Amino acid sequence: PRTAVRRADGSVAVGDVGLPELAAAQGTPLYVVDERDMRERAAALRDAMTTAFAEHGAEVELFYAGKAFLCRAVARWMSQEGLGIDTASLGELTTALSAGVDAARVGLHGNNKSDEELELALTAGDKGIGRVVLDSLVEVDRVADVAAGLGVRARVMLRVTTGVHAGGHEYISTGHEDQKFGLSVHPARPGEDSPALTALLAILARPELDLLGLHSHIGSQILDPAGFDAAAREVLRVRAELAERTGVLVPEVDLGGGFGVAYLPGEVELDPERIAKETAAAVVEAAAETGTAVPRVSFEPGRSIAGPAGLTLYTVGTVKPVRLPEGSELAERLYVSIDGGMGDNIRPALYGAAYHAELVGRTSSAPPVRARVVGKHCESGDIVVHDVDLPADVHAGDLLAVAVTGAYGRSMASTYNLLPRPGVVAVRDGEVTPLVRRESVADLLALDLG
Ligand code: LLP
Repeated sequence: PRTAVRRADGSVAVGDVGLPELAAAQGTPLYVVDERDMRERAAALRDAMTTAFAEHGAEVELFYAGKAFLCRAVARWMSQEGLGIDTASLGELTTALSAGVDAARVGLHGNNKSDEELELALTAGDKGIGRVVLDSLVEVDRVADVAAGLGVRARVMLRVTTGVHAGGHEYISTGHEDQKFGLSVHPARPGEDSPALTALLAILARPELDLLGLHSHIGSQILDPAGFDAAAREVLRVRAELAERTGVLVPEVDLGGGFGVAYLPGEVELDPERIAKETAAAVVEAAAETGTAVPRVSFEPGRSIAGPAGLTLYTVGTVKPVRLPEGSELAERLYVSIDGGMGDNIRPALYGAAYHAELVGRTSSAPPVRARVVGKHCESGDIVVHDVDLPADVHAGDLLAVAVTGAYGRSMASTYNLLPRPGVVAVRDGEVTPLVRRESVADLLALDLG
């Protein structure tokens, strides 16, 4: 996190709160969120986007993607920074609404929304949430029927797939799609309407639905803005096609989330100003090429706001040198076990994600050794950091922090091996605010009806 500093005694403080004091008071493992950093990241993106789009006379709106990490405090921070909240389940939707977020600034995604989700979405606030993002042709009638049953109107967007997939350092353009989200902007056969256009026409045919616009999400952890450029062009082409066919020029285009962050020292994140300038230019050019007015644009960033603002604090337990087989790149690796693991951070096991760990209770002049940070779960894939140099004298009781766990850490946590999930605290200007209570074994047993 941005406010992290190494103090004179060698320990690290974040938000003017010493991590050893925090660990002593709250226990470990613990998710720690630097509130100032998270707010500043939201504000920086908001300002960069607002400026870049204003230069072209266009409006832009940001929705924080709650899947990265959502609790009521975070929903409020994001609202205070001027962002709406993007949700993808009854739990996320209820959390945002119960935090007091204006329903008009909440969105709902999902490829298989439940009746309960739709009913809440369509009845929250004065006239339902701001946008329900439709994901299939059957959902067009489904949402219209639920709206009709409730006697309300639904403000909807259609999620389209452009063939542009992005993530990591590359993006590739493919002609066809093989995944569950959205409707393709490409016709199955030349001369036919695309699935996206067919669904858009179906939406316009239902009086209960107000069509706000088109939505496109091309991937996550994107470090090259070219993918957004390509997707924006495709989306604006379909918007123009719909206008040509029906006279309806939808007012908004949502380009999703996906801005990449730096996980390891030396990596660079996607710069907010660069992404803002490039996407604004792409949207404006594409509108000009199709002879249509520039739409209002929205984005749904999650990781780039929450990720780098969070860390996980662990206590080191068993330290075990393991001799590696003859011919391995290393003779020996130091296995450093911590008091959490794949239950609180599944990303290394699930995606092969790389993280960095550091001793934060002290400094050490011992030489670095190649270490692997592992959890306490019962499987050998329970690895949090594959490769990191730690001081050779790392020992039980040392405090270890894993950085950039603010997104998709707590939100993807499990209770595997019946390990309770860690709590989350916010730190800011020397103050500690608990956000989510640490789970206990009693909490887990409370669910056990035997
Ligand atoms: N909007 C939509 C429709 C999305 O599907 C996503 C992420 C986002 C916004 C936010 O994307 P972000 O800005 O956070 O990249 N669990 C994975 C990431 C899954 C992302 C799924 N969709 C991980 O830990 O890397």
